[in-house]
This record gives sequence, structure tokens and C-alpha cells, in this order.
Amino acid sequence: MRMVDLIEKKRDGHELTTEEINFIIEGYTRGEIPDYQVSALAMAIYFKDMSERERADLTMAMAHSGDMIDLSAIEGVKVDKHSTGGVGDTTTLILAPLVAALDIPVAKMSGRGLGHTGGTTDKLEAIPGFHVELAKEEFVKLVNEHKIAVVGQSGNLTPADKKLYALRDVTATVDSIPLIASSIMSKKIASGSDAIVLDVKTGAGAFMKTVEDAKELAHAMVSIGNNVGRRTMAVISDMSQPLGKAIGNALEVREAIDTLRGTGPKDLEELCLALGRQMVFLAGKAASLEEAEEKLREVIRSGKALEKFKEFIANQGGDASIVDDPEKLPTAAYRIEVPAKKDGVVASIVADEIGTAAMLLGAGRATKESEIDLAVGLMLNKKIGDKVAAGESLVTIHANRENVEEVIEKIYANITIAEQATAPALIHGFVT
Ligand code: URA
Ligand code: CA
Repeated sequence: MRMVDLIEKKRDGHELTTEEINFIIEGYTRGEIPDYQVSALAMAIYFKDMSERERADLTMAMAHSGDMIDLSAIEGVKVDKHSTGGVGDTTTLILAPLVAALDIPVAKMSGRGLGHTGGTTDKLEAIPGFHVELAKEEFVKLVNEHKIAVVGQSGNLTPADKKLYALRDVTATVDSIPLIASSIMSKKIASGSDAIVLDVKTGAGAFMKTVEDAKELAHAMVSIGNNVGRRTMAVISDMSQPLGKAIGNALEVREAIDTLRGTGPKDLEELCLALGRQMVFLAGKAASLEEAEEKLREVIRSGKALEKFKEFIANQGGDASIVDDPEKLPTAAYRIEVPAKKDGVVASIVADEIGTAAMLLGAGRATKESEIDLAVGLMLNKKIGDKVAAGESLVTIHANRENVEEVIEKIYANITIAEQATAPALIHGFVT
């Protein structure tokens, strides 16, 4: 097989066979096929698309390019949740104990990553003592006995995707539905889950800026999952404004505790229930999505979900008393209010820019080497559609330095107040 012939074949709009896709991904992973040929192929895919079969084959070829995590020692249906990424997305911290409280195994591998705040691992490490360094046997034992554990990402997962994603980044081929969908799904499949729930975000703070694109991506990923034997469902959710109120690591842990107690922000709770009911249904613990949602509400009401969170924290060396006493979490030295300059209704809170404001405080990493300040971040006191009077606080800044002028400026530049505005719909659709 010659790579040049395969590029030509795709360029002319033909389908690549399973063998051809495997040849490309294996050769690329081993360094035998050069970047310039793979970039030409990526561009051809960008213009000519891939069939459902090609997408599934590409996904599996990338999944098999490195370690495949084997979770078969864990009993039950392992359902993983993946979000395409947003600002102040606290859902994983909530969903993990919430579904584990229904005896669904949550075997989560989690990363740190770059972004406005840390990843799930960083957020959990805001809890004093909590650690994610678990040996494989310990991880499996915890999930079997307690239904929940989070372990730091290790090993060599989907190296083909790492190389290809980096190449796409510099060849203007990131925005391709078959390439995005196979990239995300390959990682989920390599991490060993039996079923997958996807939260595909749309809006300013998201990768997919329009609802149409987000729906297309959601359908593409659900098809791949179902075609490779992993039951998959998706929720398409709004990320034009940040989710919930908290943006920051320890602040989001508090928000998660509130939500598990049933007193969290309504949008965050609604999204957790929408994702959670798909997880419960796919795990085979409910006959319908309605029944699944009722079960989730019940474990919030009964306190079981919160108890599960405590159990999870204690199992991984953390101080579970933070749940009843969140003052024990890292707190910032300064709280600075950002008052509204006029009366009106909040009309926009540009998610990615507000996320960047939190990052400027030190809540997230700009580069892999940056240190995160777990205590800092923003609390949104108003969301889109809320009335506000001049002088009332829009945002509370939690900072560890006194001078936060640039942060205040960024907040004012990205929250607008108008005469009238209505809250955007949180959920734009489901793929089930
Ligand atoms: N996220 C990924 O993991 N892959 C993509 O291609 C795009 C976003
Ligand atoms: Ca939040």
C-alpha cells in the first residue's frame, strides 16, 4: 500500500477500506508515514468527509494505537461521561457520586489539562488530603466495593490521536466533524467504558459555536459509539454563559456539594439530571429515562448522594468533613465585588472570556507548567435574564492578590446589561 494512493483516493471522494485506515494509523503512530502526507489526508477528509463505516474504523484504529484499558475486573456496566468542554462545568464532580449512589460503577480516569480552571483531578485535589495516585488493583477494588474511584491518567492512551490532533491544529483541519468525532470517541473507547454519555456544548464558551454544528457532532459521535458496540447517548447543552455560578477549583467543589444536597444552581442541577438519567438508563438500572431521573432525584432527597461523596473522598485520603464544613477548603485572601453600573437585565455573560478572567486570577493553566491556585475564581451572582440594580454585585472575585484591575475590566467588557433579555434554553436537544 502506498500512502500517496490513499490520499488520492480520499481526495477524489472515495471510501477508504478498513485495512487502508489501519495501515495509515499504524504507520503514522510508528513514524513511518510523515506528517506532510497525513496533513494532506486530513485536508482531503475535511473536504470529502467520511462514511459512517470509515469513522468507526478510524476511531477503533486510533483507540488501538496505544494502551486499551481493561476494566473487565469491575462488575457491572461501566458508563463514562464526556463533555466537549466549557466554562465552570462542575458536572463530573456531581455525577460521579450521584450515579454511584445508585450502585452504578464509576471508574473514572481523569486529567488535569489546560483551561480556564483545572480538570476534575485538580478540583478534587482542592480537598485536603485527596489524591488520585492509585495502583490499578486498588482502583478496581474501590470501584467494586464502593462503586466509585477517580484515578489520574497514566500510560500511553491513543498516541495516534495525540499526533493527529497536534497536526490538525497547525494545518487548519481541526473543524472537521469526522475527525473531531473519532478523536473524542477513540479516547473514550481506549479508556474502557461499556457505554458513553456525551455532553456536547454549544455557544461562545464551546468548541461548537452553533446548535446545528453541535447537533451534527453529537449525532456523529453517537453513531460511532453504537457502531463499535458501545451504547452512546448525548445531550446538547448551552455554553453561551458559564454553567452554574462557580468558576474555580475549590469554588466548584462547594458548588458540587450544594448540588448534591439539592440546593445548587438550577441550571447545573438540570444538566446533571439530564446527563445522569442517560447514564442510569444505559447502565440498565432503569427501564426508562423518566424512571432513571426519578431515581436520581430520590438519592439527592434522601442524602445518599452526599453520603456517597463523603465515602469517595475518605476512600482517596481526603478530609470528608469539608462536605459539612466547606470553610475547610482552600479560600482566597480577598473577596472583591464587581457592581453593576446601571439598572436592567443581564443580557450576556460571554462564557469563554469570563473563563479567561478566572484564569488570569490563577484558577487555570495557560501552559502545562503553570501552577494552579485552587482557592481563586469567580462567583456569578447574576445570570442571563436576571434583573439587576445599579450597585448590585454582578460577580464576586475570589483572589489572592489585591490588584485585580485587568480581571474587573474583562468582566465589565463581557457582561452586558440591557433593558430586556431572557435566559437562553439550557438544553438544545438529546440524541438517544
Ligand atoms: N477535542 C478532541 O479531543 N479532539 C478534537 O478533535 C477536538 C476536540
Ligand atoms: Ca460551575
